[in-house]
Amino acid sequence: MKPTTQQKPTSLFLAHAEIPPEVRVSSEPYEMRYLIDGQIRTWTGPAQDIYSPVCLDDGQGPKRYKLGRCALLTEKEALEALDAACRAYADGRGEWPTASVAHRIACLQAFIPRMQAVRSVVVKLLMWEIGKTLPDAEKEFDRTVDYIRATIDALKETDRAASKFAIEQGIIGQVRRSPLGVVLCMGPFNYPLNETYTTLIPALIMGNTLIVKPPKYGTLLHLPLLEAFRDSFPKGVVNMIWGDGKTIITPIIKSGRINVLAFIGTSKVADLLRQQHPIPHRLRCVLGLEAKNPAVILPDADLDMTVRECVLGSLSYNGQRCTALKILFVHRSVADRFLKAFSEAVAKLPAGMPWEPGVQLTPLPEDGKPEWLKSLVDEAIAKGARIINPGGGEIQGTYYAPAVVYPVRSDAQLYHVEQFGPIVPVAPFDDVEEVLDYVAKSNYGAQVSLFGQDPATLGRLIDGLVNQVCRINLNAQCQRGPDTFPFTGRKDSAEGTLSVSDALRAFSIRSLVAAKQSPGNEQIIRDIVTGRRSKFLTTDFIF
Ligand code: G3H
Repeated sequence: MKPTTQQKPTSLFLAHAEIPPEVRVSSEPYEMRYLIDGQIRTWTGPAQDIYSPVCLDDGQGPKRYKLGRCALLTEKEALEALDAACRAYADGRGEWPTASVAHRIACLQAFIPRMQAVRSVVVKLLMWEIGKTLPDAEKEFDRTVDYIRATIDALKETDRAASKFAIEQGIIGQVRRSPLGVVLCMGPFNYPLNETYTTLIPALIMGNTLIVKPPKYGTLLHLPLLEAFRDSFPKGVVNMIWGDGKTIITPIIKSGRINVLAFIGTSKVADLLRQQHPIPHRLRCVLGLEAKNPAVILPDADLDMTVRECVLGSLSYNGQRCTALKILFVHRSVADRFLKAFSEAVAKLPAGMPWEPGVQLTPLPEDGKPEWLKSLVDEAIAKGARIINPGGGEIQGTYYAPAVVYPVRSDAQLYHVEQFGPIVPVAPFDDVEEVLDYVAKSNYGAQVSLFGQDPATLGRLIDGLVNQVCRINLNAQCQRGPDTFPFTGRKDSAEGTLSVSDALRAFSIRSLVAAKQSPGNEQIIRDIVTGRRSKFLTTDFIF
């Protein structure tokens, strides 16, 4: 049978007039704005043009569509944002860090409908800025709102548990979680809203003050939310700035006034940022970094299900997920059958514009990405691999047709580096020890997926992998959700754990009030509590 050729995108180079009216969006009303000290300011200095991965062809050849502009702020504005966040924190004595949990929750609850009011424009910008399909963009938005609600519920629960006194060895104590200080928050381009907010929201609700720098791609979509932040929280609590990282982030870190770095990106940049802090031991880092999640396909795997999960796992959002499957190890005895079924399934994936119904493969937002992916594949080919899906790896402007590359040898870069794009490297194995060694030697330690049925083999693999990665998926692709599950990694993959409740811990520290048990101290505590003299030492709680 002739292998199916990779489906060609139907409409990669539309003329402007062909864009359906319902997906058009203008960022003009929001452009060049930033938020410092409770004021939305409009920048009149240098700007950065923001281009969509979507190329339009109005007769002069395909060109990335210019979506809008954002401010390229300078060190001066960056330090103003830092001053505003420090003033709002006021060494822990500011209005926000000393606010009651009930008040902080009320502010966040007020933020939710304001956020929902701009859903349509944010969803459209997600499609246009990073090429996310319409259903995925909607899911990203709605999942983020759900995350905020779940965070509120988790904090209520934590607070209910903390609203009591413990008595140990004659000491009365009340233990609560308190904020850490000023948080610098930077999310990634692939989940620019969700992953930014899964650190921003817990940091905020725990009483910290924030400087947020949106990612380079997926940046305009944060602008329609500025009013909601300005109106929902005291001034200076959330500051949002745009610009070149070296210009605006370096001086903020070098000031030594940042207490927490929440960063999702590469380990190289995370190390650079951390090293710039003059007192690194005072900087708590919450990091989500690279991954090279392998799938292990055992001889007794249910091939139909495995193919389905591996296609989703390796190519959802063009493989641009930290949880994507980034190398498939297939047992040599089933390699031919698996590869045939897998490449046929890949060939059927519809490619096109992010708003087109059913589309699953879209143009890539990062500058020069298709060319870099090609260089990885070329090197793997020079080392004995080939692209097994006809049409795989073809480049059309910003679109890179998914390439299934086999057999990828251990001396090829593709075997080790995170491609973060639509390449599926496949390597055969004979003994599971080879895969265990791969994971042990890898720089990364996020997740793996195991496909098979035999309890003895699966059990052996689980025990060999569980201390190398942080999530083992049985007969399923890798993924972050449900968001209440811990999301973390070892080695160069992460620092700290995120989940709805873990994130509340990551952005806070336990503080307690303690007193020797005596009638006098008991009376003082009773008077503070009944007279509502403290927002920390209280038995108030929220249902
Ligand atoms: O890129 C990392 C994302 O948090 C992964 O989330 O597994 O739900 O796509 P996901």
